[in-house]
Amino acid sequence: MAEIFITRKVFQDAIDILDKEGHTIDINDTDRILPASELVNRAHGKAGLVCLLNDRIDSWVMDELTSIKVISNIAVGYDNIDIAGATERGIMVTNTPGVLTETTADLAFAMLLGAARRIPEADQYTRAGKFKNWQLMQPHMGVDIYEKTLGIVGMGAIGQAVAKRAKKGFDMRIIYYGPSKKESAEKEYEAEFVEFDELVATSDFISIHVPLTEKTKHMFSTQEFKDMKSTAILINTARGPVVDEAALVEAIKHGRIRGAALDVFEEEPSIYPELINLKQNVVLTPHIGSASIETRLRMAKMAARNMVEGLKGNRPPNLINEDVSPHRSRPT
Ligand code: GLV
Repeated sequence: MAEIFITRKVFQDAIDILDKEGHTIDINDTDRILPASELVNRAHGKAGLVCLLNDRIDSWVMDELTSIKVISNIAVGYDNIDIAGATERGIMVTNTPGVLTETTADLAFAMLLGAARRIPEADQYTRAGKFKNWQLMQPHMGVDIYEKTLGIVGMGAIGQAVAKRAKKGFDMRIIYYGPSKKESAEKEYEAEFVEFDELVATSDFISIHVPLTEKTKHMFSTQEFKDMKSTAILINTARGPVVDEAALVEAIKHGRIRGAALDVFEEEPSIYPELINLKQNVVLTPHIGSASIETRLRMAKMAARNMVEGLKGNRPPNLINEDVSPHRSRPT
């Protein structure tokens, strides 16, 4: 039996998993992100912390939370948590991989389609009563997708799921860049590994699927936008800071690239103001990559199960810091 703090509203099914184990749950049952000091107050004395990707769990937070043994992040990405700091303090950290792969790939592809075919702009136009007649020179002419070249940056699970859609549905040529070659993607989707510069220069669409690290921060900035095709569209459903938004705005404004589809932003939830004003060939969504009802439920339940196992002193199924010595410096 342990006490757990959940930082935000979650599905009842996930709470039930924790309840069934006899744990005591305190929850911030709202959509409000707690300031770190409030999170610390609420989680103080608890053994488990279930959090979301926009809760920053830095080492000073962990220092305050001396009784925390397990941090269960309801997200696949974990750049919001100081993993090395958690490991040093003997805290297990878990995430929710796998269950959101296909859903996020669906969104990435929807974003690609939306920007290429200018769906949000056409939707606004139709709703505004501007559709008076069919014209050959339609105001929302977009660009073709099928048989074009898709550059995938980061051929992990989500990158491969995007490649599958691109190859099998749209007969696209797939090129990719990442820390290692992926033979399965090469075999199944005829994906070709290329150097980053080549991917940047030759892709018609570039879809980003890398985690946020020191190395990937601003991986796309002024130089990359200069090197991209002027007809290229950039899709980011990974993490906002991988793209330098100020440089992206300049590139689109000056026609260096055609457009972008962004589901993630550098300073979420604020959006770089000039991005909002760029409507042509630009699609913006509020970090909804995994936001299908089924997937969000799977993520929440997976996070609850990770917590249950961690609190039992077992290795949770989705432990990130494999090298942690559980509870080393924590009271048991
Ligand atoms: C979403 O961005 C996630 O990391 O799960």
